[in-house]
Amino acid sequence: MVSAADFACIREFLRRRSGVVLDPSKGYLVEARLLPVVRRHGCGGLDALVGRLRQGGDTVLERDILNAMMTHETSFFRDRAPFETVKRILPDLLERRGVSRHLTIWSAAASTGQEAYSLAMLLEEHFRPRLAGWRVRILATDISDVVLEQARTGSYGALEMARGLPDDYRQKYFVPLLGRWSISQDCRKLVEFRQFNLAAPWQGIPACDIVFLRNVLIYFDVPTRARIMEQMRTVLRPDGCLFIGGAETLLGVCDTFERLQGAGCGYYRPKGAR
Ligand SMILES: C[S@@+](CC[C@H](N)C(=O)[O-])C[C@H]1O[C@@H](n2cnc3c(N)ncnc32)[C@H](O)[C@@H]1O
Repeated sequence: MVSAADFACIREFLRRRSGVVLDPSKGYLVEARLLPVVRRHGCGGLDALVGRLRQGGDTVLERDILNAMMTHETSFFRDRAPFETVKRILPDLLERRGVSRHLTIWSAAASTGQEAYSLAMLLEEHFRPRLAGWRVRILATDISDVVLEQARTGSYGALEMARGLPDDYRQKYFVPLLGRWSISQDCRKLVEFRQFNLAAPWQGIPACDIVFLRNVLIYFDVPTRARIMEQMRTVLRPDGCLFIGGAETLLGVCDTFERLQGAGCGYYRPKGAR
């Protein structure tokens, strides 16, 4: 059992470093997720691990704790409706960008990359001729370097491939390699991965046409969500579109975005948009 003091230490570390707030009932989660870290670092137990965290200065240990405590659950075309909605809104958006011929999409909590590659496949499948000669960029960011490492390889095992990916997409957009599946070069080259902490002041995020900020706000407290949304206003173009998770809401967080109805899900646009 994790002691109350050790739980408080992990909770505070996580909140400070990532904005993620652990519910006080999640003691079991701390134990389950940190036991592999305890073993990897040769600590006698969770209490010894937390002792080393308290001492400070061990950046590898800190990184491993942070990575282990994050929930990285994701899948290809997760929830489908946001992708269907992007397909519907893109023709109008591309019309508006017809002069600059730039399209920027941000997957802002990208985990192991399935969300960003799903967007790349969607563009390839439905908009390839239309986007010939355009500068298309899908920026995929996450706080965790471990998941980004896997995302960059674009290589997925049978279980990941079985979740959400239509069979014909597997044939079209993946190649079998050493018992796994690798994303095609055409999709791979659309996506750029970068480590980025949503809870810290934002720097280096380009003006975005579409943002997927899905299934991550739920881990933050309301003030952190509000700060994130304030910064989102500065990067999302006035006629851009924001998607959050199906279980997430901006109600009580900020009132600077309006909710629009998409194909089976809502999405958001800055208020006062043309
Ligand atoms: C549940 S996954 C969501 C993945 C994907 N967006 C989806 O909906 O399938 C949440 C991701 O958010 C990341 N995350 C948590 N806190 C973060 C932060 N402060 N900044 C950036 N990413 C964060 C985690 O590392 C994790 O990969």
